[in-house]
Amino acid sequence: MPDFIFVTCQIGAEGVLKGELARHWPALRLAFSRPGFLTFKLPPDHSLAEDFDLESVFARAYGFSLGKVTKSARAGRFSGQYDGRTLEKLAAGVWKAVEGRSVQRIHVWQKDARAPGNHGFDPSLSEEASNVHRLLVEACPHPENLARGARHPVRPCKPGESVLDCVLLAPDQWWIGYHRANSIPSLYPGGMMSFELPPEAVSRAWLKMEEALRWSRLPIPRGARVAEIGSAPGGTSQALLARGLWVTGIDPAEMNPAVLNHPRFTHIRRRSTQVRRREFQKIRWLTADMNVTPKFTLDAIEAIVAHPRVSIRGLLLTLKFTRWDMAEQLPDHLDRIRSWGFNVVRARQLHHNGREVCVAALQQPFHRKPFLGQRR
Ligand SMILES: C[S@@+](CC[C@H](N)C(=O)[O-])C[C@H]1O[C@@H](n2cnc3c(N)ncnc32)[C@H](O)[C@@H]1O
Repeated sequence: MPDFIFVTCQIGAEGVLKGELARHWPALRLAFSRPGFLTFKLPPDHSLAEDFDLESVFARAYGFSLGKVTKSARAGRFSGQYDGRTLEKLAAGVWKAVEGRSVQRIHVWQKDARAPGNHGFDPSLSEEASNVHRLLVEACPHPENLARGARHPVRPCKPGESVLDCVLLAPDQWWIGYHRANSIPSLYPGGMMSFELPPEAVSRAWLKMEEALRWSRLPIPRGARVAEIGSAPGGTSQALLARGLWVTGIDPAEMNPAVLNHPRFTHIRRRSTQVRRREFQKIRWLTADMNVTPKFTLDAIEAIVAHPRVSIRGLLLTLKFTRWDMAEQLPDHLDRIRSWGFNVVRARQLHHNGREVCVAALQQPFHRKPFLGQRR
């Protein structure tokens, strides 16, 4: 078993990620770190399975680390360090690093260059990553082990498949690792769900909601009623409408006409605090994406879910941190959500999140509150 793990995250999240891992995994020791990429030494007696769950909100991808391949001839800190003068040599070095392991899939991605939104930066799978992926496929010593679809650089793998990870830190510095796919993000290269923004999407919030729905797998049936707080201009609502849901958008700002005119969309043009509780009586699912503090969002949601005439089964909330230190209160925020009766509560900094996280909460099984008589 390797002695190290690697973790990638959004640039800027390293501090909170380290704090989070220090709390959950006190035996881990930071070994190497660059913005967006860290490795940790494991304790000698660790018994981590190949599909271990780091239970981290801020880790975008992770796995066992086998060190790096570089162009330089210097000896490295890890025994898994190899030299190479050309890309092909680097690729050969990668396969040497994973010698003896059966590889079914190859995930290649570049470490983020900047924080999301900084100079328009959008974390994504680069052309360079696709090229390295192709090289690794071509150099694979046991192509018979590769799963169907492994030749495609972006296609997600299947749970249980063994994945070779190659993180490009620089053109000639590739960090090698592996994991066994298990969680939804671990199926995607670098934990990045790279889908295209449809041309009809009115905001990039579409990407965030699509990723949130796939990651959380909340069991929202077609035809269910969802309220979206902070709905303008409407990308989130479009992603929900596309799944056959009825959407009530709550926002004092204007909705895009393409959303407003959808037959399953209703706009309540008010702030969440100004909406009458009876508007929520048929609603079972609540999403929120307001440009306000986490405390404001949670106060607004609590006022709805705690009401005796409102029965909400699940939540998908975006909690925004204007400063990174605000993220340290996340465990308290999650406890607060649990205290409302949601027994399954998870959070993740999604690929499409900025300095914010997505929280998914579910009441499982669902207990509707008893009917309390006349509507008010
Ligand atoms: C990031 S945008 C939401 C993007 C939107 N989800 C989409 O799909 O395009 C934040 C929105 O929150 C709204 N907002 C802020 N405070 C609010 C409140 N108290 N109640 C409802 N909406 C609010 C703003 O008007 C703004 O339109």
